[in-house]
Amino acid sequence: MIDEKTLAGLSWPEAPKILVEPPGPKSREILKKQADWESSAVSYSRGMPMAIARGKGATIEDADGNIYIDMFGGAGVMAVGHAHPEVLEAAHRQIDKATHTLDIPSETREELVETLRGLLPAELSRIFFGGPTGSDAVEQALKLAKWNTGRNGIIAFEGGYHGMTGASLALTTDSGHRDGVGQLVPDVHFVPYDYTYRQPFGCPDTESDLYAAAWLDRVLSDSHSGISKPAAVIIEAIQGEGGSIVPNPRFLRNIREITRRHDVLLICDEIQCGLGRTGKMFAFEYSGIVPDIVTMSKALGGVGFPISAIAYRESLNTWPAGKTIGTFRGNMVAFAAGNAALKFMVREEIPARAAALGEKVLSGLKEIEKKSSIVGEARGIGLMMGIEMVKDKKTKEPAPEYAKKVRSYAHRKGVMIEVGGHHNNVARLLPPLVIPEELALKGVAIIGEVIEQIEREAT
Ligand SMILES: Cc1ncc(COP(=O)(O)O)c(C=O)c1O
Repeated sequence: MIDEKTLAGLSWPEAPKILVEPPGPKSREILKKQADWESSAVSYSRGMPMAIARGKGATIEDADGNIYIDMFGGAGVMAVGHAHPEVLEAAHRQIDKATHTLDIPSETREELVETLRGLLPAELSRIFFGGPTGSDAVEQALKLAKWNTGRNGIIAFEGGYHGMTGASLALTTDSGHRDGVGQLVPDVHFVPYDYTYRQPFGCPDTESDLYAAAWLDRVLSDSHSGISKPAAVIIEAIQGEGGSIVPNPRFLRNIREITRRHDVLLICDEIQCGLGRTGKMFAFEYSGIVPDIVTMSKALGGVGFPISAIAYRESLNTWPAGKTIGTFRGNMVAFAAGNAALKFMVREEIPARAAALGEKVLSGLKEIEKKSSIVGEARGIGLMMGIEMVKDKKTKEPAPEYAKKVRSYAHRKGVMIEVGGHHNNVARLLPPLVIPEELALKGVAIIGEVIEQIEREAT
């Protein structure tokens, strides 16, 4: 396993180093151009106003020379960190040879396929590259499920996030994304996830997963539920945008058993929680299940090259040639970079390190939770964490404004995080898995200071 000294060399150890309060003058100049010229839909640079100059490992330098601890990791893309030397070398080598080949094979492409097949359960033996983004992978997974079952419906979970394109948006629950953009793809239904902190069942928290799974069983069993037998159930083994929600591992086991019993396909969306993020190569491994289809993206491109894939069972491999096509399904640089990143992760046991460091980070966040009257719950697994902000611990009234403040105050002090959650009240952490322990704990300490400040301001 990689040692801390080597990891420290992958980032700028002086982070955070704030020379001028962000956004500094150079960043402001660039931000203004963006505001004047780009779409009003631009979002991340509103929560973290800065212009990025370069990145290294788990650190980012802005245009004014400020250095941040990156605890957002490009929305979970940067598993091996910015500018990872091995990954860059593989990308540089490839870029001089060939970059775009549609789905015509090459050694580079098949090397990545071979690596992926070695990491996935043996049952998921078929790989398909369906387009560059995570949403593309979700679209292809749905299409495959519908094609094979001849059915139309999909069941997804409350709090789920699966993308922004037609069908993937229809599975995404956040009304901020869904509302006002016209008719979404029909025959999509939602059932409760195992979200213990806000479970609606009134049962002991240790049983909320059983009640949530029973709900799905009821919907599929009752011919009067109003939901015809669907093609598939899609689930994030750990919910990401929904607020870093870690269900009881028994939940997914039960979902697997129920879908099998009802002859419905199970899709695990591992776009965010997969590829080492949670401490296992795939988050569904915590439950010991094998889904029928898995979606992957984000970390799959090594250092952010766009690529996505699905893996599925041989029995589903019934598509005739050309049934689903597309131009950008063969980015050779992404294949080379992704393969180098996965090889590095396996060789250096990065998922196991993420699990171990994640425990330390979580225990720091739990300390903050204990001391603070505005942290409802700190939770997470591996390096996928959330801090659910509330107005009052007893009533659990969501405090989205506090979560936003955590993001902006932390940014000013040189720590980058994001906001998500059912009520947009969860400060979310997705640092590169190579973040040095010292930087990770420094980041936690700064988040703790920021939360104390917000609490003082509130009282
Ligand atoms: C679980 C999950 N599925 C799908 C997506 C969509 O991926 P993309 O933004 O690349 O389309 C995301 C993005 O955050 C995600 O977290």
